Parts: sequence; structure tokens; C-alpha cells
Amino acid sequence: MKQPEPPHPAQSIAIDGPSASGKSSLARAVAQSLGWVHADTGSLYRAVAYALDRDNLLNAEEHELCNHVQTRTIQYAIHNGFTHVLLDGEDVTDRLRQEEIGRSASRISQIPCVREKLFRVQREIGCQGKVVMDGRDIGTVILPEATLKIFLVASPEVRADRRYLELLQKGSGRPRAEILADLAERDERDRNRPLAPLRQAPDALILDNSKMTIEESVQWILKKLPH
Ligand code: DC
Repeated sequence: MKQPEPPHPAQSIAIDGPSASGKSSLARAVAQSLGWVHADTGSLYRAVAYALDRDNLLNAEEHELCNHVQTRTIQYAIHNGFTHVLLDGEDVTDRLRQEEIGRSASRISQIPCVREKLFRVQREIGCQGKVVMDGRDIGTVILPEATLKIFLVASPEVRADRRYLELLQKGSGRPRAEILADLAERDERDRNRPLAPLRQAPDALILDNSKMTIEESVQWILKKLPH
């Protein structure tokens, strides 16, 4: 008698890398071309920072901050293949992109209760399969079994230029030198925190996209995806 096929392992792509390396745009484009879901995990940390800021607790003692975080509900909702973030049921996705929230997110992402809180949310969506997840610790901590792991890098100058243009489009004329310094500070914190630091997984492929278009990077990744 024919044995039933073993379940196909959930397919997933993990894209990790520093701020402004282009992870989210690339993950989104890869997900679109595969018809998969894109899960931007930075937005979860941003949602926690947003919730703490709203309640004036960003600088609270760790135990107070953790009590607050534990009572919040943070979930993903999928609309047309894109993940939105629900904070206590409210879609806050559009409020999370400000620079200030990014800075606070980087700071509070070092607190163990914050990472613990967000681990399950990320694991759940990752294990569903057909997902491209981008972040800092996807290939090392959240989805070590991912089908394909990419560590995305770009030169500091290229990253600063990209962030500069992104901010300019939003109407902010922040000096490029300030952006460069801010990125260096963020890298230092993300790479050197004791918990789940930004690190290349041993089986991750490095992609330096400094001189590549998004489309070229998408094609590069699609060619590496096992069939
Ligand atoms: O990718 P982003 O800039 O939206 O992320 C904001 C901050 O969240 C980033 O500076 C560090 C933290 N983060 C993290 O610690 N782990 C992740 N998987 C994603 C983001």
C-alpha cells in the first residue's frame, strides 16, 4: 500500500541584516514574486516602543516596563500578503515608521521580557510556511530551520543615502552625517547586545546589495531557493 507523503517542511526565507540595508523592501519584493507572506519583524519591536511611549513608560524601570508589555496584546494580521501589526486589536502599522520610534525600538529590543513576548508571535507566523521574514535574529533564533537564510549587507554610505532619501520623501531634511552616525550607533547596539544580537547564521548566505537594484537582489535570492 502506498504510504502517505510526509508533510512538506514549511518553506521560509529569513533575511537578517543591519538597519537600512534594505531588508524590508527586499523581503517584501521576494514575498510578492513568490506569492508568499512578508513578515517585517522590526514592526513588532516598534509596536512595543509605540505602546510604551504612548503610556509614558519608555524610561520606566525594567520591572514596570515589563508589567506593561505583558498586559499588551501584539499580533500580526495579514492583508493581501502583507503583515499589519495589531496592538490590543488596533492596527497601528502606519504609525510605526518614525525615526524616533525606530531608535526606541532598538533600545527596548535589548530587554529580555520584550524579546520573550515577541518570540511566540514570530514563531507562529514563521512556522505557517510560505513566509519571508526579515529582522536581526530570524536565521539564528526565530527560524533556525528556515529553507534559505540571507544576511543582507550594504556599505554604511549606501545605507545612509537610502535612509536620507527615504526621510526626504517623508518631508524630513535630516543631515546625511547625522543619519550615518545614527546608523553606526544602532549597529553597535544591535550587534553587541547580549540577547539575540545581529549575527550571521553559520549557514546564511551573504548578499551585499550596495550596487544592486531590488530586482537584481530578488533574482539572486530566487536562484538560491531550493526547489
Ligand atoms: O528593522 P527595524 O529598523 O524596523 O527594527 C527596529 C529595531 O527593532 C531594531 O533597531 C532592532 C529591533 N529588532 C530586533 O531586535 N530584532 C528583530 N528581529 C527586528 C528588529
